[in-house]
Amino acid sequence: MAKTENFLLSIVLIFLPSVVLGVYDVADFGAKADGKTDSTRSFLSAWASACATNGPTTIYVPRGSYLVGQAVFEGPCKSERIIVQIDGTLVAPANYESHGSSGHWLFFHDVQGVSIHGGTIDGQGMSLWACKASGNHCPDGAESLTFTNAKDVVISGLTSMNSQLYHIVIDGCTNVLVQGVKVVAPGNSPNTDGIHVQESTGVTITGTGIKTGDDCISVGPGTTNLWIEQVACGPGHGISIGSLGKEREEAGVQNVTVKTVSFTGTENGLRIKSWGRPSTGFVRGVVFEHATMQNVQNPIIVDQNYCPHEEDCPDQNSGVKISQVTYSDIQGTSASQVAMKFDCSATNPCSGIELQDVKLTYQNHQPRATCKNADGSATGLVEPPSCF
Ligand SMILES: *[C@@H]1O[C@H](CO)[C@@H](O)[C@H](O)[C@H]1NC(C)=O
Repeated sequence: MAKTENFLLSIVLIFLPSVVLGVYDVADFGAKADGKTDSTRSFLSAWASACATNGPTTIYVPRGSYLVGQAVFEGPCKSERIIVQIDGTLVAPANYESHGSSGHWLFFHDVQGVSIHGGTIDGQGMSLWACKASGNHCPDGAESLTFTNAKDVVISGLTSMNSQLYHIVIDGCTNVLVQGVKVVAPGNSPNTDGIHVQESTGVTITGTGIKTGDDCISVGPGTTNLWIEQVACGPGHGISIGSLGKEREEAGVQNVTVKTVSFTGTENGLRIKSWGRPSTGFVRGVVFEHATMQNVQNPIIVDQNYCPHEEDCPDQNSGVKISQVTYSDIQGTSASQVAMKFDCSATNPCSGIELQDVKLTYQNHQPRATCKNADGSATGLVEPPSCF
């Protein structure tokens, strides 16, 4: 290219509006960084433009605070690669009625190749939690960030604060990376699970810190090929596979790896939980490896007797078969006397539970392990001694 042409090209580029280069700044769509002007429509317009673009695009959220109400970011999109770069904070309306009964705040559906980088989302859950604590009739609330029926998703460097309900939900998705995310909510905030995964395959969660009032990470039916690594939990209820087996017809959970995780002051550490009622669900092929526990109520627990309203749980027999579960290099302190509890189904006993190098203490004493309908083996140093 000749020099003059080059020069002309740069002039043209300078004067082209940024959108032509595939960057959609929400400010250009009218979003106000004042934390009180409703910017929902601006975000949705930016999304519509990005979604309709051929080729890769970026939606940019500058610094500042943006009030955003319930929003559905719908695909499929023409663009196969949409980056949402957030330097600011998205704030939900303080009034929990404003999301309606949808159960969602920021909802991505039927998208492919969407990445969210950086930023903060603030669900402003306090008023709903207060309502729930008062015993009044309150709505369930809204999940803060939900992906359903999505593929090739990245969520990185995002902070999720004070969600009304679950913070991040991955449901019906394929190939999702959650990396360097922070979840922050009070230890007594109800139903504020950090990350919930279900009906999804190829989900990886790494380098993430979760302080919340419910499960750190919860794994629902139909989850396969899940990888969790370098996650710090607490306060909260720990990492939980389940509750499973609520439905009679239910997909199983298979091939889950949880490694290099820490639990501080949590209710549970590594938990598998099912309803005590008939189901086709199962859990097969789980590795829990390199976990440290600090003052954890139930460091290792399998509980197949869940039935909060005692409905439809004949003899508390869970149909969920749990097999091939390994606990390897699990260390630290239990806050209760029973540090390992395998309370499995009488009709579908746990099998192939392997313990390798487990060392848990309780107030400088040896805690206990309890088994019901559980079969497995122990190798290396295992304290408390296994009960198989
Ligand atoms: C299990 O899941 C991991 C990802 O978490 C994947 O790399 C591996 O191939 C899966 N194994 C099988 C047998 O599918």
